[in-house]
This record gives sequence, structure tokens and C-alpha cells, in this order.
Amino acid sequence: GRVAVLFGGTSPERQVSLKSGQRVFEALQSRGVDAVLIDAADDLIGQLNTSKPDSVFLALHGGEGEDGTVQGLLDYMRIPYTGSGVKGSALAMDKSRSKLIWNSVGLPTPGFHLVDKETDLSTLDVPMPCFVKPNGDGSSICTFPVYSRDDFEVAVVKVLEHARYALVEELIAGPEFTVGILNGQALPVIRLETDNTFYDYEAKYLSDDTRYHLPSGLTEEKEQEIQALAVRAFENLGCEGWGRVDVMQDAAGKFWLLEVNTAPGMTDHSLVPMAARAVGLDFADLILEILQISES
Ligand code: DAL
Ligand code: MG
Repeated sequence: GRVAVLFGGTSPERQVSLKSGQRVFEALQSRGVDAVLIDAADDLIGQLNTSKPDSVFLALHGGEGEDGTVQGLLDYMRIPYTGSGVKGSALAMDKSRSKLIWNSVGLPTPGFHLVDKETDLSTLDVPMPCFVKPNGDGSSICTFPVYSRDDFEVAVVKVLEHARYALVEELIAGPEFTVGILNGQALPVIRLETDNTFYDYEAKYLSDDTRYHLPSGLTEEKEQEIQALAVRAFENLGCEGWGRVDVMQDAAGKFWLLEVNTAPGMTDHSLVPMAARAVGLDFADLILEILQISES
């Protein structure tokens, strides 16, 4: 049947999504699938009514495309789509509520506060160093590592210019790892290494100097531990199909959950495609597998 690839949209991650969607579209065409490309920024309902897809591949990152809003629309229109449903998407996009759930089931995640314009910062017990970031955006857009009280207040003001809520999160020095999830199973773990202060937007999408270690360099035992942690983190948020779980390791070797991405990047710098290749799935194989999971 016909597959509509939804991409673009209006979130701060629009540019990333344009790249992801284009690649997904080309991969589908290369395998002879009847694919159409729809920019979700412009009359999405009208475009779906016109092109009448049998299913949707969601290549939208951030905002309404990843937070359950578009998922709810597609549920209502009875169009099957890739990845998590309304509930898993909404929870994963909300970092603080993800963390509350993980805390409640004993999964480790760095200490945090949720802050808005009404919060009295002067009385807040801020972990130092920390990250200050939007509670509900991705790709490290507007994310600041903070090492002093003065920097902290500046960072909060900057984040709250764009976002309703800022997440203040204890900074775990790293290394940083990421674990792709496909059909309920963890893919091989990737360790990220950057010369930037952290794995920021530049290191994610622009730099040719970011190192992707696959195999991760973890011992077999630690690799299995982080994979099991990632699967539990994913399942406890009610996520489905595929995704990617971002994890930090501290100096003592302990893992800490940062977040789940329910519509991970599919650019030529992106991580799930790299991990899939390590188990013998090329990019188009991966796309077809993700579609097949969503239709079953
Ligand atoms: N939010 C970006 C697209 C990612 O997680 O890959
Ligand atoms: Mg993210």
C-alpha cells in the first residue's frame, strides 16, 4: 500500500526532520514502495485526505509530531503509523514526567527540578554542575551546561524565552551512550565522543569530528546491563515499535537515563541507522522493518 512519510513540521527540529524524511522517502522508493512525502507544517489533514495513505512513516522530530498530537490525529483517522502511540509519545517528550516514572520504578536518572517563570530560583537547591534545557524539546537545542550559580540564572532565562518549562538536571560527566530499540529489543550500544563541551547540536548534525564507537567498548556485562536498562526505560513509558534511549555513565561506571526519543533522527549522521547496520540491516531494510512492526 501507499506510505506517506511525514516530515518537516513546525518544531525547532524542523531542519533535522527535513533530512530524516527525505532519506526515509528515498529508501522507500528504492525498494519500490509507493511513497509520498508530506510536510506536516502545511494543512496536514488536507494532505492526508488527498493522498489517502495506507500507513504513515513518522519522520517528525519534536513538537506536535513527536509529542502525541499527530499520533492522536492519525488514530482518529484510522491510519496506522510507525513508532509509539499517543501515551508513549507524550510521556517521552516530557523529560520530567519520564524521570518521575523511572524514579517510581527504581530506574536511575539524574536528579532534577522543573522550573517555569513563576519559580523562585533563589530558594532552589540546584545541583551543580547541571544542564538547563527545555523540558520538551530535542536535539540539544537551547541546552546549556552550567557550572556556577550566575550562569544558572542566565541559562534558565534563555530557555524560558523559548520553552514553557526548563529542566534543571544534575550533570553526569559521561561518557554518553545511546541504545536503539527495534521491535522491543536493544540494538548494539554506541558510545559518543566529541571535542565539544557535550554532544550538542553541532556535534550531532554538523561536525565530522564526532566519534561513534560501535562496538561501544563496554564489557559484555556492562553492554547487557545498559541494553536491559534501555528496554525497561522504553517499556515503562509505554513506548512502542522503535526508538532510542540516551544514557550517561558516571565515573564509577553507573548508568543514568536521560531520555527516550520516540522518533529518532534518520539523517546521515544519525545513530539508530548505525546501530542497525551493525546487525546487518542497511538503511532501507531498517525502514521496512519499522513499517512492518507498526502494521502488525
Ligand atoms: N531528537 C533527535 C531527532 C534525535 O533524538 O535523534
Ligand atoms: Mg532527544
